[in-house]
Amino acid sequence: MMEYVFPTVRRGDLMRTKALALALAASLVATIAAAAQSGPATLTIHPDQVVARVSPTLYGLMTEEINHSYEGGLWAQLVQNDTFRSDWSGVPDWILVEKGNSEAKIAIDKSTGPSEALPYSLRVTVNGASDAAPAGVLNDGYWGMGLHPDTTYRGSFYAKEDSQDVGPVTASLVADQSGQVLASTQIGGIGTEWKQYEFTLKTGAIQPSLANHLVLTVANPGSLWLNLVTLFPPTYHDRPNGTRIDLMEKLAAMHPKFLRFPGGNFLEGDHIADWYNWKETIGPLVDRPGHPSPWRYWSSDGFGLLQFFEWCEDLHMQPVLAVYAGYSLMHEHVTPGPDLEPYVQSALDEIEYATGSIDTKWGAQRAADGHPQPFHITYVEIGNEDEFDTSGSYDARYAQFYHAIKAKYPDLQLIATAPVKSVRPDVIDDHFYVRATDFFHDANHYDKTDRNGPKIFVGEWATREGTPTPNFGAALGDAAWMTGLERNSDIVVMASYAPLLANVNPSALQWVPDLIGYNALHSYGSPSYYAQVMFASYLGSERPAASLEGARARLFYSVTEDPAQKKLYIKLVNGSSDAQDVTIDLPGASLEPVGRLVMLSARDTQATNTLDHPTAIVPVDSTLRVPGDTLPYRVPGYSIQVLEFSLR
Ligand code: AHR
Repeated sequence: MMEYVFPTVRRGDLMRTKALALALAASLVATIAAAAQSGPATLTIHPDQVVARVSPTLYGLMTEEINHSYEGGLWAQLVQNDTFRSDWSGVPDWILVEKGNSEAKIAIDKSTGPSEALPYSLRVTVNGASDAAPAGVLNDGYWGMGLHPDTTYRGSFYAKEDSQDVGPVTASLVADQSGQVLASTQIGGIGTEWKQYEFTLKTGAIQPSLANHLVLTVANPGSLWLNLVTLFPPTYHDRPNGTRIDLMEKLAAMHPKFLRFPGGNFLEGDHIADWYNWKETIGPLVDRPGHPSPWRYWSSDGFGLLQFFEWCEDLHMQPVLAVYAGYSLMHEHVTPGPDLEPYVQSALDEIEYATGSIDTKWGAQRAADGHPQPFHITYVEIGNEDEFDTSGSYDARYAQFYHAIKAKYPDLQLIATAPVKSVRPDVIDDHFYVRATDFFHDANHYDKTDRNGPKIFVGEWATREGTPTPNFGAALGDAAWMTGLERNSDIVVMASYAPLLANVNPSALQWVPDLIGYNALHSYGSPSYYAQVMFASYLGSERPAASLEGARARLFYSVTEDPAQKKLYIKLVNGSSDAQDVTIDLPGASLEPVGRLVMLSARDTQATNTLDHPTAIVPVDSTLRVPGDTLPYRVPGYSIQVLEFSLR
C-alpha cells in the first residue's frame, strides 16, 4: 500500500486554513479514483550530481510607467496632475473652491511659471474672499487620496502672488463625504516672485480612507499663481520624493535580483520626439518638463531616472538599464549612422550618470542630484522589442550602440531585443504573453536552446488570464513556466514578469493582467504574485540531476539545491484539476526527518485575490514527514508546491 504523507498546517489564518482543508478534502475524494487508474509518477533526484548552476540573478522585476505604476502607484506623491496640465476639459483633477460668498476663477497662465521646464502656471484670481469664505482649488488625488491615522504628510508648492496680499495659503486635508477638515496649516509670506513653499499636515485618530482631498485656499482678494504641488506620506526608507511603503514591501518579498527599467514601450514613446530623454527626468522636480507616455497619459517624470536607481538600491537589485535605441512605436526609426549618434551619446552619458565617479561630468551631476556613490551595472539593454521595426534597421542600430558602449565599457553585457547578425549580442531578450495552456505546452521552451549562443533574458512574460490581476489559472501557467526557467537557468540568466504594477481603478488601467494591484490606500498580490514569491524564496544555487517519469499531463517540476545551507527545493506544479501521485526518489540521500511544504492552491482556475479579498489565495506553510530516501507523495489538483528538505 502506498503511504501518503499529508501536510500539517502550522501557521496562517484559521479561516483560510479551514477553507483550504475543505478544498483539499474535496479534491482528494475526486482524485483517489483517478489516481487509482494509473500508477504514481516517479521523480528521481540525485542531490550529489550537480548538472548546472542556477543563475544568481534569475528572478527580478520589469517596470515602466503603465497603469499608473508610479504616478498613482509606487511614487508616493498623492497629488494627481501636480503640474497643472490642461486639456479640453479644463485642468484635470483640480476643482475651483468658492466657499460661502467668495468669488474666484482659475485659468492656465502661459506667461509665467516657476522654471524653464514649467513655464506656465495655474492662476487663481480671487475677486472676493474672507476667513469665513475662502477661495482656491482642490485636488482629488489619484482616484482618491489615501490617508492614514496619526501620520505626517509633507507637502510643497511653487507660488507667487500679485502685489495684493492674497495670502496666507491654507492647506487642508478634507474628508470627501463629511467635509471634515482632517488636518490644516497656513503657509504665509507668499511673495511676488516664484518660490517653493513647504508645509506639513498631520492627521489625528481618523479611519484609513481614500475618500479625501487636498484643498489650497486664500482669504483675500488678489491673484495667486501655483505650480508643482506635492504631498507625500512617509516613504520607504524615508527617501524624499520616495516610494510607497506597502508596495515596496510587497516587492521586497519577491527577493528580486534585478530591475529592468524604464521600459517597455515607455522607453520608446509613440514618436521619436517622445523618447525617454532621461536628462529631462533628473534634478529638482521643477526642472522636469515631463513627457507624453505611449500609455495615453502624461508622465511628469517626478519619478525619474535617479528614482529607479534608488529603488534598486533600496531592494538590493541590479539595475538592468534599457537605453533608447532609435525606434518608436508608430514605426518611426532613426537612421543608423550620424542621425543615431546623439542617441548613442545619450546612452553613454546615461551609463556615466549611473556608474561614473564624481570626477566625470555625469557622475558629478548624479552627485549634485544627491547620490555621490556610483551604482553598479552589469547589463544594458539596447531598445525594446525591436522586432516591430519592420524597416530592418535594428541590426545596424544595435551594432552602432554595441561598438560605442563596448569601447568605453568593455565589461558591460549588452542585451539585444531582437535577433541581430552583424555582432553577437551577449544576451537576447525574449517576451511571452500567453494563456496558461500555452505555458503548459511550452514549459520546456529552453530545454534545447544552444548553450553556446547568447544568454537569454526573459524580459517580459505573463499568463494573460484574469483581470485586473491574474487569477489562479494564470498562476498555474506562470508556475509551470517558471519550472522551465529554473531547469534552464544556466542559459536563462534573468526573467521578469510584466506588467508588474497596476492602479486597479478602471480609469487608470491600460493593460491587464498585472501582478500587483492597488488603489490610493491599499494593495494586494495576485495568485501569480504569490507564485513568484514562492519560487524566488526557495531557490538553490545548483541544479542536481533529476528526472520525472510516468507523469500525467500538466505536472511540472524543478529541483534546485543550496549546498551551503544543505537545502533541497522541489517545486511541483499540478495544472490539472486531478491530484497526481508522485514517488519522490532520492537514491542514497540522507534527509532530515521533517521537511517543509509551502502550497498555493485554489478550487478553481478563476479563483483570485482582489482589493476586498486580498488574501483569498496565499501560500500555506506546513511540515512534511520524510520517511526516508523514498517519499510517496500526492500533489493535489490545481496546486503549486515547494517542498524543502534538509540534507544531512
Ligand atoms: O508589458 C506591456 C508592454 O508589452 C511593454 O511595454 C512592451 O514591451 C510589451 O509589448
